[in-house]
Amino acid sequence: MNLRTWALCLLAAVTLLGLEAQEQEHSTAQPSQDRPTGTQENKPPTGEPAAPPNGAENPGMPDQVREMLRGFLALGAPPDPAAVARGQKTFVATCGFCHGTTATGGAQGPNLVRSTMVLHDQGTGKEIAAVIHNGRPEKGMPPFPNLGESQVHDIAQFLLGRTQAAANRMEYTIQNIVTGDPRVGQAYFQSHCAECHSPSGDLAHIATRFDPVALEGRFLYPANNPYGMFPPPDPRALKHVTVTLPSGKVFTGTLTHIDDFSVGLRDEGGEQRSWVYEDVPGIQVEVHDPLAQHLKLLRQYSDADMHNILAYLETLK
Ligand code: HEC
Ligand code: HEC
Repeated sequence: MNLRTWALCLLAAVTLLGLEAQEQEHSTAQPSQDRPTGTQENKPPTGEPAAPPNGAENPGMPDQVREMLRGFLALGAPPDPAAVARGQKTFVATCGFCHGTTATGGAQGPNLVRSTMVLHDQGTGKEIAAVIHNGRPEKGMPPFPNLGESQVHDIAQFLLGRTQAAANRMEYTIQNIVTGDPRVGQAYFQSHCAECHSPSGDLAHIATRFDPVALEGRFLYPANNPYGMFPPPDPRALKHVTVTLPSGKVFTGTLTHIDDFSVGLRDEGGEQRSWVYEDVPGIQVEVHDPLAQHLKLLRQYSDADMHNILAYLETLK
């Protein structure tokens, strides 16, 4: 496994287990005494191939027509919306790095919407449970032994929703995710998000830039860019690092890599520097991750919070 895959798995595991590893925005470490825990790299994923249009063409379709279409396309029963919402949350956080937040594939993992295994699963979780629990490590799919039966089932329901939406472009089942209360969402925003974002500033018209599914992916974990092959990294999402040498000399810049043995940065002048800890006993490394708060929030949201926040963000047209 290369470092990047390892880092992604680690991030997924951290999110999954709800560890408080990245609790603080700043994490300090002294590699000479201790391994620099809390400073693990997770490079912003390089994005994923452009998702196909989500088929919001006909949101106002009457229910009878919708049912007829379902019959015509031989789609099974629609997934349970609550399970889809839970499954989406787990999927975005745990699998989205590789398979894309909308499951249509990413730089590290295949499109699951077109997977025959997922199609056969039919939202039960029975077909996909083995690959989730055991992974296919030699092919780049890590095992997730800690995902319980109900979480696998929720993921399966989310994937069923995605395959049905893909099969039926006239319908837009995932549109149902905008069911929250925008006023409650606004209050949540004021207390949890307003320190960094403004509805009339950086998030103005955000709902016109992303469809609801992409927007949910965006606020759940903004390093995942649902569209665009290799989006230029947003400077506000880049990690910064301060390296203090035993001599007292301090270097700061954008983190370019970090692992158990070394750290690298690019300074303001664009110069690349790196250090091997072993060569510099007493070196201190401090990483600042602007998305740390997003990761923390991701573990706190209830289903209702997610729906309310999305409903509020949807008003920012
Ligand atoms: C580090 C990247 C990575 C992560 C994270 C990841 N996967 Fe995968 N996944 C892969 C790769 C690569 C494959 C293809 C393996 C192969 O070629 O057999 C795969 C294959 C699969 C398959 C089999 C598809 C098929 O048609 O054979 C399923 C289902 C799947 N992943 C689901 C998930 C789910 C659910 C999660 C989250 C719990 C997840 N994956 C997390 C990389 C990843
Ligand atoms: C500690 C600061 C901080 C907090 C708190 C925070 N965010 Fe963010 N957010 C960021 C950073 C940094 C980015 C990455 C830069 C970017 O992509 O715009 C980001 C990105 C986003 C984006 C993507 C914006 C875009 O243009 O694509 C959305 C949407 C978002 N955050 C919503 C929220 C919501 C909703 C909350 C509260 C529930 C929240 N954020 C809390 C710092 C924060």
